[in-house]
Amino acid sequence: MSHNDHSAYTVSLHYDRRLYKHDIAGSMAHVRMLAKQGILPQADADLIENGLGQVKDEIEAGNFPWRDELEDIHMNIERRLFDKIGDVAGKLHTARSRNDQVSTDMRLYTKEAINGLIGAVHELRQAFVGKAEEHTTTIMPGYTHVQRAQPVYFAHHMLAYFEMLGRDQERLLQAQARADVMPLGSGALAGVPYPIDREMVARELGFASISANSMDAVSDRDFVLDLLSTSSTCMMHLSRLAEELVLWSSEEFGFIRLHDDYTTGSSMMPQKRNPDFAELARGKTGRVFGHLVAMLTVMKGLPMTYDRDMQEDKEALFDTVDVLQSTLAVMAGMVSTMELNVERLREAAEGGNSLATDIADYLVIRGMPFREAHGVVAALSEQAADAGKKLNELSLDTYRSHSTLFDESVLSIDVTTSLEARDVPGGTASGRVASAVDAARETLEKDNG
Ligand code: ARG
Repeated sequence: MSHNDHSAYTVSLHYDRRLYKHDIAGSMAHVRMLAKQGILPQADADLIENGLGQVKDEIEAGNFPWRDELEDIHMNIERRLFDKIGDVAGKLHTARSRNDQVSTDMRLYTKEAINGLIGAVHELRQAFVGKAEEHTTTIMPGYTHVQRAQPVYFAHHMLAYFEMLGRDQERLLQAQARADVMPLGSGALAGVPYPIDREMVARELGFASISANSMDAVSDRDFVLDLLSTSSTCMMHLSRLAEELVLWSSEEFGFIRLHDDYTTGSSMMPQKRNPDFAELARGKTGRVFGHLVAMLTVMKGLPMTYDRDMQEDKEALFDTVDVLQSTLAVMAGMVSTMELNVERLREAAEGGNSLATDIADYLVIRGMPFREAHGVVAALSEQAADAGKKLNELSLDTYRSHSTLFDESVLSIDVTTSLEARDVPGGTASGRVASAVDAARETLEKDNG
């Protein structure tokens, strides 16, 4: 390449070749429709379809002669068709533009990619439920502000993630529905002057419907943005989980041990087991957010209709799909293989005056207004702290010096009574957690069937 040869600048082949299958499927459906409508002789359509089949085989066998100077996947396939079947190849692009073609390819790709992502979300949700089933009676501290707040069952914590990922699954399905619209027949921007049958092409390609406006169809990349934003939210969830796994596996917390497959040793310090996979999951989240912002920025200044800027949608989308798909799989592996230090979790749940709220509630049940009870327990906590004790180590006399509503039953408040008292829908009492685990299992089975 000479100093003033900038032809490489416009080339997208190195990444858009991953659309080859979708591009060929779109062309085959298009050419079949052209023949059925009498726009092309059946014999020509047969030749073209057969030739496209050979091109596909060549790509899959790994001996397709890729040509960068043809810029993209569409031109590479079309030119190769000429090598295979001669000039009749020139008829394939009748009643079509690369503008409606590339949108069709991208929509087919997006629909397929989302199937893969939904499968990976399912695996991760399965891992959460699996861990929840193993640990329905394991007690851990629940946190706010990274301060021990109230005890919860570990299963309850796992099912919080099950819920989050359930919303991600819904969003993925919505994004898929939005991609499920067929743009072919929009031409460059204004439609095509042939008696085409767009519904037939939609049916052949498995699209739910056809686009309503040719200008919108070739200039719309909302379906890309939908997947990027859905993926960003999902990565945000995975990053929070990653952060918890990093904390929990630290010496400071000591709550879990990650499987060796998901840690690496330090080259200098032999005692270290670094949670590199969790850290990378957290780190890669930034990349996915970046793709969303990049694509919003690409689109914001574009006049109708197609502009070449839109070619920039591909790397953003492909990388997002790859990162999300692999991160979901890594997290599923990490969650299902982690081992809990059940004693340490329980100790932590019992520390930190996590029963303060329960003692306040004890007074409220006996008629004291909550704000006042809050003050009493604050004073008790201070007194306990001064004496170097935990709340439930104070004597009944001490309690009664703060309020005569206390009797000896206050001394039996412990983590278990605290947990079991939260017997409301969505709460952490063991009966509620057990039915939530059952409901989660059922949801997974229904998703599978
Ligand atoms: N490689 C192009 C893209 O990805 C294909 C569409 C080109 N269309 C055009 N009018 N130049 O956007």
